Amino acid sequence: MTQTLTIARPDDWHLHLRDGAMLEAVLPESARHFARAIVMPNLVPPVVTGAQATAYRDRILEALPADMAFEPLMTLYLTENTDPQDVAAAHASGLVRAVKLYPAGATTNSASGVRDFDKVRPVLEKMADIGLPLCVHGEVTDHQIDIFDREAVFIDRVLDPIRRATPGLRVVMEHITTANGVEYVKSNPTDLGATITTHHLIINRNHILVGGIKPHYYCLPVAKREEHRLALRAAATSGDGRFFLGTDSAPHTDPNKESACGCAGCFTATNTMALLAHVFEEENALDQLEAFASKNGPGFYRLPVNTAQLTLQKHESPVTFPAKIATGEGDVTVFDPGFAVHWSVLG
Ligand code: DOR
Ligand code: ZN
Repeated sequence: MTQTLTIARPDDWHLHLRDGAMLEAVLPESARHFARAIVMPNLVPPVVTGAQATAYRDRILEALPADMAFEPLMTLYLTENTDPQDVAAAHASGLVRAVKLYPAGATTNSASGVRDFDKVRPVLEKMADIGLPLCVHGEVTDHQIDIFDREAVFIDRVLDPIRRATPGLRVVMEHITTANGVEYVKSNPTDLGATITTHHLIINRNHILVGGIKPHYYCLPVAKREEHRLALRAAATSGDGRFFLGTDSAPHTDPNKESACGCAGCFTATNTMALLAHVFEEENALDQLEAFASKNGPGFYRLPVNTAQLTLQKHESPVTFPAKIATGEGDVTVFDPGFAVHWSVLG
């Protein structure tokens, strides 16, 4: 008997679509399965103002194939010069659904990020007033702090103080990678959610480093120890409404990944839903996949759950996915989970 699973159409609450030829090539990979996505603003130059977000949204919609439906949910890149009034206007018009905080230097294209958190206080206060969520790349950039500890230290040194100083600020801890992140979310009942990527449910740091370095598994925050991966799996499959899918699918061309100084990012848009079905089945939690991928995110963002649906099918034989996506800038390697996958999206 064929096993199928039908869920409300999922959304991706953290996605990198880039721009130009790369946008054109990767957008259909997400739009094929996802109804909406929170689109990251770390372009060069970053998407800082409402006007820039409008222009970027127009370019995304222009790149969308005519037979596909997809709603980009725009974000603004928080800088020390961000104008609270511009943020409020972009939110009021329905254009912008979140503001993104990158600590300066934390990751790809984050040079314009925040160094002095006091400088963004007026923006954060305005956001708390109007209920606009802050999406946080939660890693300190202090060179003294080991890269594997940067998320845990960020929670204590930056995130908790910001939240205490700004009551009512709604925060999404993006792409959590540690049991510390899971615990912090669980111990704070209100105004806090977290996205979890597909790849952090699948790889730990051994996958990156044992038996030769695997550049396509390198992303930020970097995958941690196995105990952390297991904590993420438990959170994602728990049904707890504060945890939801944000793939952080982040395309870089192969030469930029397979390099002496390779870029951070795993490209998972193509096979994310199939991989999640595999993971949730392994955890005996297929009945929680809809909560994680389709319901908890809209719950946090106060948006309706999609009425369209998506059906996954389990096959006797392993399913194959394209190894690479061709783009106008060069090939982008699709995330390889390293195991046989028996699920695919129907249609
Ligand atoms: O791995 C990552 N890639 N992490 C980020 O935070 C940024 C992203 C990118 O833009 O490539
Ligand atoms: Zn990201």
